[in-house]
Amino acid sequence: DRVLVLAGGLSPEHEVSVHSGRSVAEALRRLDVEVQVADVGSGLLDRLAADPPQVVFPVLHGAAGEDGAIREVLELVGAPYVGARPDACRLAYTKPAAKALLSEKGVRVPRGATLPKSAFHDLGAPALLGRLADRIGLPLFVKPDRGGSAFGATPVASVSDLSAALVSCFAYSDSALVEEQVQGTELAVGVLDTGEGPVALPPVEIVPDGGVYDYAARYTAGRTEFFCPARLEEPVLAAATEVALTAHRTLGLRDFSRTDLIVDAGGEPIFLETNVAPGLTETSTFPMAAAAAGLDFALVCRELAHQAYL
Ligand code: DAL
Ligand code: MG
Repeated sequence: DRVLVLAGGLSPEHEVSVHSGRSVAEALRRLDVEVQVADVGSGLLDRLAADPPQVVFPVLHGAAGEDGAIREVLELVGAPYVGARPDACRLAYTKPAAKALLSEKGVRVPRGATLPKSAFHDLGAPALLGRLADRIGLPLFVKPDRGGSAFGATPVASVSDLSAALVSCFAYSDSALVEEQVQGTELAVGVLDTGEGPVALPPVEIVPDGGVYDYAARYTAGRTEFFCPARLEEPVLAAATEVALTAHRTLGLRDFSRTDLIVDAGGEPIFLETNVAPGLTETSTFPMAAAAAGLDFALVCRELAHQAYL
């Protein structure tokens, strides 16, 4: 077997992807799979042509990785790869579009509105921001409509902080998602399909020490407490699991994904987003959930690689 792991990438999540890619490569090598790791760049097409891998395992987070762009290139050269197809990636990666679709399916989503950068620079912006905060309600979240790892995402408690939050957000995306901040328990639910249809992994409960699951809380060991099994009642977990499976299927994903959601005080799951290239680092929840399900991460990676090739 020869697998080419793509890691790094062009997004702010470069460093995270390097770590995720290393986890996958090390896991596969433990099973004596021949693995090479490459970053994306102008040499990628030449490399794929000169030394075609049997399978590409893209572990690229964020823009050009999760938006499907690199996978378009893989389709173009006919390289088999692990994970969702480009159009499904694009849909899942665009949070407002994914939310709208899931809402159609009867899944609860946070109240939200998108605000393009151009509107923010308009003369009427201050009044607009006030109306937006009124409509969504405080506290709220401002986040890039496309992005990951909490880059450019800020919790906003008062309308006077909204402007600064938007400035940070527009450093990462030309469009902001202004979203109701749902109070409750944060869960990440992995979905895995190794040939028999999508199966949900045990939900992981996320408790960041400062209350906000920001970049540092995600990737600094010890900054966030994870509970798997999550400390919620069985029917609540079943409902959360169902949302993750619905998202995986509705968004047309393949192989694996991770859906992030909040369970509110009433035990109802509220969909936040689905990641087509979930983090696979030492502090990421997908490998944690796989281990809790009794699955060997290395075997999972090899199974996914085989499946892409067959
Ligand atoms: N965007 C990061 C990698 C995650 O969702 O895990
Ligand atoms: Mg994400």
